Amino acid sequence: SLDQRVDSLLSLMTLEEKVGQLTLYTSDYDVTGPTMRAQYKEDIKSGKVGAIFNAVGADYTRNLQKMAVEETRLGIPLLFGYDVVHGHQTIFPIPLGESCTWDLEAMKLSAQIAAKEAAAQGLHWTFAPMVDISRDPRWGRVMEGGGEDHYLGSLIAKAKVEGFQGENLQDTHTILSCIKHYAAYGAPQAGREYHTVDMSDRVLREVYLLPYKAGIDAGAATVMTSFNEVDGVPATGSKYLMNDILRKEWGFNGFVVTDYTAIMELLHHGYAADTAHAAQLAIEAGVDMDMQAGFYQDKLVELVKSGRVSESLIDESVRRILRQKFMLGLFEDPYRYSDTAREQAWLMSAEHLEAARDISRKSIVLLENKNNTLPLSSAIQRIALIGPLADSKRDMIGAWSAAGDGNKAVSLREGLMARYPKATIAYAQGCAIDSPDKSGFSEALQVAKNSEVVILALGEAAQMSGEAASRTSIQLPGAQQALMDELRKLGKPLIVVLSNGRPLDLSTLSQQADALVETWFLGTMAGHAIADVLSGDYNPSGKLTMTFPRNLGQIPIHYNMKNTGRPRDVDPNGKYTSRYLDVENSPLYPFGYGLSYTQFSYSNMQLDKESATAKDTLRVQLTVKNTGSRQGEEIVQLYVRDWVGSVTRPVKELKGFQKISLAAGEEKTVVFTLPISDLSFYRQDMSFGTEPGGYEVYVGRNAEDVQGLRFQLLE
Ligand code: IFM
Repeated sequence: SLDQRVDSLLSLMTLEEKVGQLTLYTSDYDVTGPTMRAQYKEDIKSGKVGAIFNAVGADYTRNLQKMAVEETRLGIPLLFGYDVVHGHQTIFPIPLGESCTWDLEAMKLSAQIAAKEAAAQGLHWTFAPMVDISRDPRWGRVMEGGGEDHYLGSLIAKAKVEGFQGENLQDTHTILSCIKHYAAYGAPQAGREYHTVDMSDRVLREVYLLPYKAGIDAGAATVMTSFNEVDGVPATGSKYLMNDILRKEWGFNGFVVTDYTAIMELLHHGYAADTAHAAQLAIEAGVDMDMQAGFYQDKLVELVKSGRVSESLIDESVRRILRQKFMLGLFEDPYRYSDTAREQAWLMSAEHLEAARDISRKSIVLLENKNNTLPLSSAIQRIALIGPLADSKRDMIGAWSAAGDGNKAVSLREGLMARYPKATIAYAQGCAIDSPDKSGFSEALQVAKNSEVVILALGEAAQMSGEAASRTSIQLPGAQQALMDELRKLGKPLIVVLSNGRPLDLSTLSQQADALVETWFLGTMAGHAIADVLSGDYNPSGKLTMTFPRNLGQIPIHYNMKNTGRPRDVDPNGKYTSRYLDVENSPLYPFGYGLSYTQFSYSNMQLDKESATAKDTLRVQLTVKNTGSRQGEEIVQLYVRDWVGSVTRPVKELKGFQKISLAAGEEKTVVFTLPISDLSFYRQDMSFGTEPGGYEVYVGRNAEDVQGLRFQLLE
């Protein structure tokens, strides 16, 4: 059996060789932390390292693998990891964008394709999916997650793990996934990267932990610790997170790797006194593999020899890691993933690019479309294309596109030229993304004057989101808003195409633009996907998975907040209510929001019963009709409110959704079956279950535009 093979290999290993298996170093390709180890090749040959990341390519990985297999005593193969986050070479939309498809099959497919390309390049393991819930657009890594909601986030975690890992890890089209960053990395104070996380155990368990758990339940092979502390204990040294919750409560039996140098950072946190102490805290917390700190390599042997750390702890971690190497088939053939023929066949294949285009256009969210400005007529002759993101290729692939090549991405300009070959598309940059310089404005205005319509491509540079890219402003950077102000004066129809990695403050832009299209960073096929939507070849269907605030001061703002004791709507004119003096409480665009070129009506909502017990299932039914003149897709959302609890409950919780396609004039009956047990929560005594009382079920097109019916949960 697998365990016997692992144990028999373990029995041959020296303590030094065991510690080697717990060590992960970067090769010299790409570095996202403070240190790099120049001698990693010597480390491979001397068995001091069991896994390598940032080495990519069939030949390159084969050569490194050869060193491990042929030059070390036991010839244990290396495990190659990489950040395959939203595609490998074929880049898909950033995960926040892709989540706006609400299309789990699509999200699974993009992971499958990414795995197939990565595996052909010798990779065994991706550091993805990132499933950190975040409610703070200042934090740069919101681009990498599935948004603010844990119900949707959990389904995405499952889809991604299934996509990367497939059904059989022996299959050379699949790779190990890694659920990250465990835990609660997405809730740093004030949105500042790597900052302190402080939340109640209740919120941790009820919101933040759920997507990690969903990924584990789906079979994720590995977990990455987060950089932050939770309740005063850095995650990388937390027995509570690793041993108590992850292993004992959730039954995780894969291995845990740290984030980049996170064991070393236990010193800066003020949690470990020195290198040896840090290594001891991490191994005792249940952290199996040390990414890049080298503290396990430097200290574990001595810690075991001096009796401070038990060798059985080391053995257990080695077992967990070897098990994955066996599962991948590396002991049968250590080179089975490094395959130049597969590399040739699959990297950016036509099939992969077509899938990317389809998923990209599904990720686009139409925010405004006044007077049916969109879709653009095919007969249009003179288009002005303006803005710092109009002709950019590199930005289109977004952050965390490590193996992606921006030069191979389709810019918006190229996409429009391909779609409107007969039109004149006059281009002017207008301004840079993040510079106060307005000297390009006059050319842009000139170009705009000679056109029938202006397409203005605004937003952030790719590297303004992602790791270590927090912002204290969520305004358009540089002179972009000023450029918009000037163009607006011309009175031409203005279509604003946004590329950005986080919710921005669009309060002004939403009023000025005739059409406003949120495209995130769509990846390799960005330009074609945007042209598909602008032209109406594809009718937009994406809906936001993160609330867009009216301004920065509303943060944190998310759809599932609490009601407070003085809610505004009970006394709309009262002074002493929970509100701001200067803006409304509501967001600019709520969670779940997005327009289509057609319209949908919601009617005839019914529940199959007025009361139910915890064992029952509630059937919720409604009619959705396409009342417009063209086919479209609608994401119908189901929310619940528990009116009274032993602890207060959110004003809404997402409990289901369906994405349906309707021809013009067509109507469908949409049915949700809601197990009442899905209304469970952590009660006042922290037991998990339902409570009797009054509830409301809502259906609607977004978190604010809903209709509801009450029902009673009986004892
Ligand atoms: O996987 C990443 C992680 O998300 C952030 N720090 C570096 C790791 C490896 O590149």
